[in-house]
Amino acid sequence: MSHVTEAARRRTFAIISHPDAGKTTLTENLLLAGGAIRAAGEVAARGQTRRTRSDWMKIERDRGISVSASVMSFEFDGYMFNLLDTPGHEDFSEDTYRTLTAADCAVMVLDAAKGIEPQTLKLFEVCRMRDIPIVTFINKMDREAQEPLSLLDEVQDKLQLDTAPLFWPAASGQRFAGMLDLERSQFLQFERRVGEPARIGPATEIAGDDATLKANLDPYVYEELTEGIEMARSLLPAFDRTAFIEGNMTPIVFGSALRYFGVAELLRTLHTYAPQPRDQMATRKGETIKVHAEDPSVSGFVFKIQANMDPNHRDRVAFLRLCSGEFQRGMRLKTSSGKQLNIHNPLMFMAQDREIAETAYAGDVIGVPNHGQLRVGDSLSESGDIQFAGIPNFAPELLRRARVKDPMKAKHLRKALESLAEEGVTQLFTPQIGSDMIVGAVGQLQFEVMIERMTAEYGLEVMFEPAPYNVARWLSSDDPDKLEAFLEKNKSASGSDLDGAPVYLAKNAWDVGYAQEKNPGIRFTATKERSV
Ligand code: G4P
Repeated sequence: MSHVTEAARRRTFAIISHPDAGKTTLTENLLLAGGAIRAAGEVAARGQTRRTRSDWMKIERDRGISVSASVMSFEFDGYMFNLLDTPGHEDFSEDTYRTLTAADCAVMVLDAAKGIEPQTLKLFEVCRMRDIPIVTFINKMDREAQEPLSLLDEVQDKLQLDTAPLFWPAASGQRFAGMLDLERSQFLQFERRVGEPARIGPATEIAGDDATLKANLDPYVYEELTEGIEMARSLLPAFDRTAFIEGNMTPIVFGSALRYFGVAELLRTLHTYAPQPRDQMATRKGETIKVHAEDPSVSGFVFKIQANMDPNHRDRVAFLRLCSGEFQRGMRLKTSSGKQLNIHNPLMFMAQDREIAETAYAGDVIGVPNHGQLRVGDSLSESGDIQFAGIPNFAPELLRRARVKDPMKAKHLRKALESLAEEGVTQLFTPQIGSDMIVGAVGQLQFEVMIERMTAEYGLEVMFEPAPYNVARWLSSDDPDKLEAFLEKNKSASGSDLDGAPVYLAKNAWDVGYAQEKNPGIRFTATKERSV
């Protein structure tokens, strides 16, 4: 198969949901559908052994949260799916944001009893900002659910998104009988086997015509189903693929992740309607270009760095989302800043396993082991002159001064903080005056994770204390002299980030506003996109 056909059969997506809606259960059953794992429960079980090997992940286990995002690839119906896992905890929203830059589509999982919850809304907004099309999976239909029409109304109202059901459920909870495939007019029967593990395999299908449904369903359920469908058909728009791709409409699939119902249907919806690897905006030699999946030359961007995936090695792994061409093991790729890498051991992630990738195509995510050369936002290409746009750094919401218990280890501390900042989850700022190391993060939990990792990986006992600053803003100006003068005048309230870019460090937002007003030629920004 050519790289063009290979790219066309890729679907790269992420799952967004509020905690407890069923993301983990759905992930597990998606992998099962793809044959990537053998039995339900194995993701969790393997996760357990992995965690016991890795000290710093103790915090994940203690808190029952997943700190790091990863990717899982599997095949289904002749399509290759790359599922990007987004961390669930809200302190890691920046990481989630970056992961979504690498996805072409998202699956929004809703709990059928709860509808849209706060975290769903937040993540949805990120998808909207990036025009990522969304498929909605209404989960837990085997429990008492809200009326389907009122759930869809809520999606429409809160997300300003048209809803187009591809299926319609027959009741819910104890009476849940299955769902009608509205496109094929086939009814998928839900069978609950009390006391047995979830039934793995396709649901039994019967014809969806009125007579067959009437003969097979409980009369009340039949009535509910036909009334519901009639209302849905008269009140809701028909599915329109263009509106979906443009992010204005979401197709709806119902199911029960726990009971493996609707899982295969969700995957079919993804391969039938979700976009293949999409065009990516980039710059080449100062010009804005679009990189197409069909372009023959290999290119991609790093959206995440993970350290110590294997505690026996000090390596870190850069997650590279490929955007074009046919990648082959051993290839030499270059960053736009001129660094060269021979990629001898590219990793593919099948469920929780890693394998060496011999080839990979647009849409795939490969892990590139490196010793710190690669950074979040780096672009890699054969030519070395492509820089992808749009992987921002966010101004952190919390700033802390880092101190190490043993003052002799201050140098080690700086190295360790730099290393962690290179992963892209936290930031390190160096004020112009003094020797403070100011660490920025989006949430308190990240400081706790850092304390654990500092002990486990670097043997440093670190404390994070209140800093003299609470707000950081990147500075830029079209007039370099103006910027220079500003930095000179504000020595005690400025510094630089890991890349040496100038940053204004202020006590509060009011100070930022005041400085902005006094210095109209200078831009104070809360995000910084990596450029060359
Ligand atoms: P999350 O990753 O989104 O946080 O959710 P997770 O999959 O862990 O699911 C949260 C709870 O909801 C779990 O129950 C899970 O079994 C249950 N669940 C998920 N999908 C369904 C479904 O389709 N139907 C029903 N009835 N339950 C579902 P738990 O009791 O918290 O955990 P566990 O002890 O069952 O693992």
